[in-house]
Amino acid sequence: MNNLFDIKDNVVVITGGTGVLGRTIAKYLALEGAKVVILGRKEDVGNAIAQDIVAAGGCCEFMKTDVMNAEVVRQNCADIVAKYGRVDTLLNAAGGNMAGATIPPDKTFFDLQVDQFQTVLNLNLTGTVIPTQVFLEPMVKQGKGSIINFSSMAAFRPMTRVAGYAAAKAGISNFTAFMATECAKKFGEGIRVNAIAPGFFITEQNRSLLTNPDGTFTQRGQDVIRQTPFGRMGDPEELCGTIHYLMSDAAKFVTGTVAVVDGGFNAFAM
Ligand SMILES: NC(=O)c1ccc[n+]([C@@H]2O[C@H](COP(=O)([O-])OP(=O)(O)OC[C@H]3O[C@@H](n4cnc5c(N)ncnc54)[C@H](O)[C@@H]3O)[C@@H](O)[C@H]2O)c1
Repeated sequence: MNNLFDIKDNVVVITGGTGVLGRTIAKYLALEGAKVVILGRKEDVGNAIAQDIVAAGGCCEFMKTDVMNAEVVRQNCADIVAKYGRVDTLLNAAGGNMAGATIPPDKTFFDLQVDQFQTVLNLNLTGTVIPTQVFLEPMVKQGKGSIINFSSMAAFRPMTRVAGYAAAKAGISNFTAFMATECAKKFGEGIRVNAIAPGFFITEQNRSLLTNPDGTFTQRGQDVIRQTPFGRMGDPEELCGTIHYLMSDAAKFVTGTVAVVDGGFNAFAM
């Protein structure tokens, strides 16, 4: 049967797959028949996630990485190609923020710590560029592949506080459009590059910004809810369908897009 959404045996690499969004997507894709490799820094966490997915009936394994270290990522790619023979999909989900790259309400731009600003740029932007460069190679050899980057609401309109993160994610949207064109022109239409822009999902990287220790929303968390027509934060599982679509042949003519999954946040003015 010709099923546009068939992703069975699709070899999927997820950087930052130990994170809250990455692990949820990993499990969904593995249970849809994909062969998932989670790349992350935390071996114990990564192995536990992979074991959970295998116990649920999926195909998944963990490999240790550092997306800012090209040598390590190259070795990951060589190991994956040696074992699975190909790489069909790369999800660049590694990312994060640092206190010094943000400007709290009681501080000003003069308090921005430029070294941390650079680290956040490196992690989110260069940490996407490096795996893209590495995993694109087997895709080009195959003549087929799909890369999905992780942008953010902060890419469309920079939000208060998160100066470094917003700059990096704007860079991700820009890089996505650049790479879509670059790949199509140089390697043909089999290689597609898109991004997903999640709205607000409570994960490790934003928990302390959006929630208090007792679980209630901070002022910023309440502002997000007010700005979201659905009136709530997202559930990580709500990203899976868009990822599935973008990586499958159902999106065969789709490249260079940033798919917004945000309960209406980005559309809402007042
Ligand atoms: N949570 C949200 O609301 C939201 C919104 C928009 C975009 N995003 C993006 O989605 C992606 C996933 O984030 P998340 O919310 O699951 O956050 P998370 O903090 O739970 O996961 C991020 C993962 O990246 C990993 N990581 C950090 N540095 C790394 C490195 N050098 N090498 C390899 N892995 C590294 C972390 O260990 C972590 O597992 C990120 O790019 C994030 O910026 C999240």
